Amino acid sequence: MPNKVIELLKTDPEFARFESFKRPYRNASVRFRKPITLEDRLEALNAAHLNVFLFRADYVDGCDLLSDSGTSAMTAEQWAQLMLGDESYGSNEGFFAFKEQVTTTFGSSWANLEARHPNLFLFHQGRAAENALFSILARTLPPLEKGQRYIIPSNGHFDTTEANIIANGIEARNLFCPELRDRASKFRFKGNMDLALLEELIETEGERIPLIYLTITNNTGGGEPVSMENIRKVRELSLAAGIPLFLDACRFAENAWFIRHDEVGYQDVPITAIVHEMFRYADGFTISLKKDGLSNMGGALVLKEGGLFVGRYPGFSDRLTDYQILVEGHPTYGGLTGRDLKGLIEGLATVVREDYLTHRIGQVQRFGHELHRRGVPVVMPVGGSAVYIRVNSFFEGTRHRPEDFPGVALTALLLLFGHRLCELGHFAFGRHDGEQEHLPAVNFVRAAVPRLVYEDMDLAHVAETVARLHSVRDAIPGVDVNHGRDLTLRHFKAHFSFKA
Ligand SMILES: Cc1ncc(COP(=O)(O)O)c(C=O)c1O
Repeated sequence: MPNKVIELLKTDPEFARFESFKRPYRNASVRFRKPITLEDRLEALNAAHLNVFLFRADYVDGCDLLSDSGTSAMTAEQWAQLMLGDESYGSNEGFFAFKEQVTTTFGSSWANLEARHPNLFLFHQGRAAENALFSILARTLPPLEKGQRYIIPSNGHFDTTEANIIANGIEARNLFCPELRDRASKFRFKGNMDLALLEELIETEGERIPLIYLTITNNTGGGEPVSMENIRKVRELSLAAGIPLFLDACRFAENAWFIRHDEVGYQDVPITAIVHEMFRYADGFTISLKKDGLSNMGGALVLKEGGLFVGRYPGFSDRLTDYQILVEGHPTYGGLTGRDLKGLIEGLATVVREDYLTHRIGQVQRFGHELHRRGVPVVMPVGGSAVYIRVNSFFEGTRHRPEDFPGVALTALLLLFGHRLCELGHFAFGRHDGEQEHLPAVNFVRAAVPRLVYEDMDLAHVAETVARLHSVRDAIPGVDVNHGRDLTLRHFKAHFSFKA
C-alpha cells in the first residue's frame, strides 16, 4: 500500500470534503422528458397567464422548483412497500404500522394508551389536517365580545395554515424574529419565534390565544430553522400561561439536522433523539407528510395524551373523529390508500438518516451559495428545503413600485428558460381590499428543491439563469394583474400580463 497516499487520505481536509460530495444513493429509475422548444414554452406561458401554478408541468424541462411538497422521488424500499398496501376498508394493517412509526419517529409521548379517545388522525394532506383543527377549534371556543377575535401566534404561518385560521374567524399573527429582517445577520436560526413579542402578546391578549404554533422549519420565514432553545423557551411561555403549543412539523427532520450541526450542545446527539426532544415540548402537531414523510401524498393531526391541548379542550378528539368520517372516510385511512400509507411509513423511517439529511441539506446549501456567489441576493444562511431570493434587493435601483410585482415577472421569465420558481411575497401574501394593496413584511421568490430528484448540476444551471436575469434586471417589466387581485390565496388563481 502507498502509505503516503493513505496518510494523505486520512489527514487532508480536502479529501475529507470530497466525501461530502458523494450522494448516499444512486438512481434506480429515471424518467425521460419530452423535448420542448422556446416556442412551446412561450405558448404555454400565455395560456397560463404568466401564473406558474397554471403552467403545464410537462413543459418545465429544466428544474421544477415550484415546491418541495409531494415532489420527492421515492426510494426502492418505498416502491416495494406499495406492493404491501392493505386496502381493507377499516383498521387496515398500515394504520397500526403508522401508529408505531409515529412513536418511533416522534417519541413515546405520542403513543395512544387510552384507545377510547384516539390521538392520531390521518388526512390526505397537511391543509386538510389544519382545516379540521381550526374549524373544530372555532366551534369549541366560547364566543367573544362583538368585534373581538381569537389570535393564533406563530413564528410564521404557512399560507394555507393562515388561510384556514382566517376562514374560521381567528386572527393569524406572525411573530418573525428580528434577525430574519436583518440582511446582514448571519444568525443560523432565523426561523425562531420573536420571544419578546410572544411574551407581550400573552400578557396583553393571553385570554384570546387558544393555541401557539411553531413552524419547523419556517417556510414563510425564509425556510429557516428554529433552534431547540427557541422551542424550549416558547414552551416555557406556553406552560406558564396554560396555552397549548402545536408544531407545524412538515420539515421536522431537516430542522433537527440544523440543531445537530449548528446548535451548541447537540453535535453528539443523534437526529432521532433531537426529534424526540423537539416533540416533547409540544401538545400536538399537524404535519404534511409530503415533505419529510418523503411521500407524494398524506397528512396527519396528532394530539398528545395528557397534554395541555387535550386537557383544555376535552371532547375535541371525539369531534375530530366525527369530522374525519364526514370528509375523509374512516379515521384509520383518512383519505389515503393502504399503499400510500405503507410508502409514507417507510419514508418516515428513511428521512432521519444522517447521510440522507447531510446530502439533502448540503445540496440546498450549495445551490444557495452558487446564487450568492453570482451576486443574486438570497436569504443567508441558506435554509434546508429552499433558497429564497430577496425580491426587493434583486430589483433595488430599478423603477419598479411594489404593486408592479416584479417577483411575479421574474418567475414568469424563468419559465421561458424551463425553470419553475414561485413568488412568495408581495403578491402571494399581500391583500387587496378593493382600493389598495396591503403588503406583507416579506418579499421572496422561492426555489424549493424537491427531495432526491435533482443533481447539483441541474441546480447550477438555475443559478446561472437567475444570475443572468439579475444582470438585466432593468429590462424586466412589472406585471398587471388582470384577474384575481381581490381573491383569497390569489397567487394560485390570478392572471397577469407583462406591463408595456
Ligand atoms: C409549513 C407548511 N405547513 C403546511 C403545509 C400544507 O401542507 P399540504 O401541502 O400537504 O396541504 C405546507 C405545504 O407546503 C407547509 O410548507
